[in-house]
Amino acid sequence: MELLKKLTEAPGASGREDVVREIIVAEMKTCMDEVTVDSMGSVIGVKKSAAKNPKKVMICAHMDEIGFIVSHIDKNGFIRFVPVGGFDPRVLLAQRVIIHGKQPLHGIIGSKPIHILDDAERNKTLQLKDLFIDTCIPKKALEKIVEIGNPVTIERQFIEFGDKNKFVCCKAFDDRVGVYVMLKTIQALKKADVDVYAVASVQEEVGLRGAQTTSFAIQPDLGVALDVTLANDMPGVGEHDHISTLGGGTAIKLLDSAAISHMRLVEFMKNTAKKKKIKYQMEILPRGGTDSGAMQRSRGGIPVVTLSIPTRYVHSSVETAHKDDIEASIKLLTAFLMEAHKF
Ligand code: CO
Ligand code: ZN
Repeated sequence: MELLKKLTEAPGASGREDVVREIIVAEMKTCMDEVTVDSMGSVIGVKKSAAKNPKKVMICAHMDEIGFIVSHIDKNGFIRFVPVGGFDPRVLLAQRVIIHGKQPLHGIIGSKPIHILDDAERNKTLQLKDLFIDTCIPKKALEKIVEIGNPVTIERQFIEFGDKNKFVCCKAFDDRVGVYVMLKTIQALKKADVDVYAVASVQEEVGLRGAQTTSFAIQPDLGVALDVTLANDMPGVGEHDHISTLGGGTAIKLLDSAAISHMRLVEFMKNTAKKKKIKYQMEILPRGGTDSGAMQRSRGGIPVVTLSIPTRYVHSSVETAHKDDIEASIKLLTAFLMEAHKF
């Protein structure tokens, strides 16, 4: 779990992925024949097959996380920001953040204490534009370190906890846990009969942007995205809205709002899981998408499927996953890559 801790704690808001990218490049260099970074910043690792005319399989996990960009510093040094990606303002209050200026700076998303809220304020739905970051540094000194355009990410420590210590929690599981599954898979992968293109994409959270250009360049025959999905197995949510459950196995996606998985590829993935006795669940996500949506519509169209890691509290600072589901995802992706030439 050391690598997952490193990946999730690293900052990398969409469009500002440099810190986490360095970790990924270093990891890929240990196991891929070729590692490049394209002009948007996505990392592409290639593992060549010895087979004749091998198919190209692109596996893709996004390295960016939802975050903010500094948009204004007021006369007292309080920072205003715009979001990159879909944050829920309710889960941002009282969070600690890091502002990536000339040097990393701690900040706090503060708010008026409840003691002085009137009834109207108490019942008002919170909006992102109501929030501000406090660094406790006066404007003049602050502006020597922070400027408009600097990225901001949530500050969180990775933990292992829960029943039998089987659970893990941090910010940015979306989608560093997908990156982790990808890296662990390719690091242990024997020679496959397909060329494997492992892509850590940028800017997924703002509209699958990195995967779009990268898949156009690679021209894969097949695409598999690795991403989190909602595990809504929690109080207040009906069973029919659970989407997936923690500990229920890796999730094979049927559809979300960006892509309908290729039916024959879904069957192929299911059969691979059955054959290898890997625990899986089927997933339908009514709203949200993954890099599959971009890969699928590249050039003349590509068969795609997404393998999802069930995650509670997605798009918050406490995204939580189950080690067994992560392990099952690695196993299924590995088995799939070894069989993919038969598809
Ligand atoms: Co996301
Ligand atoms: Zn994601």
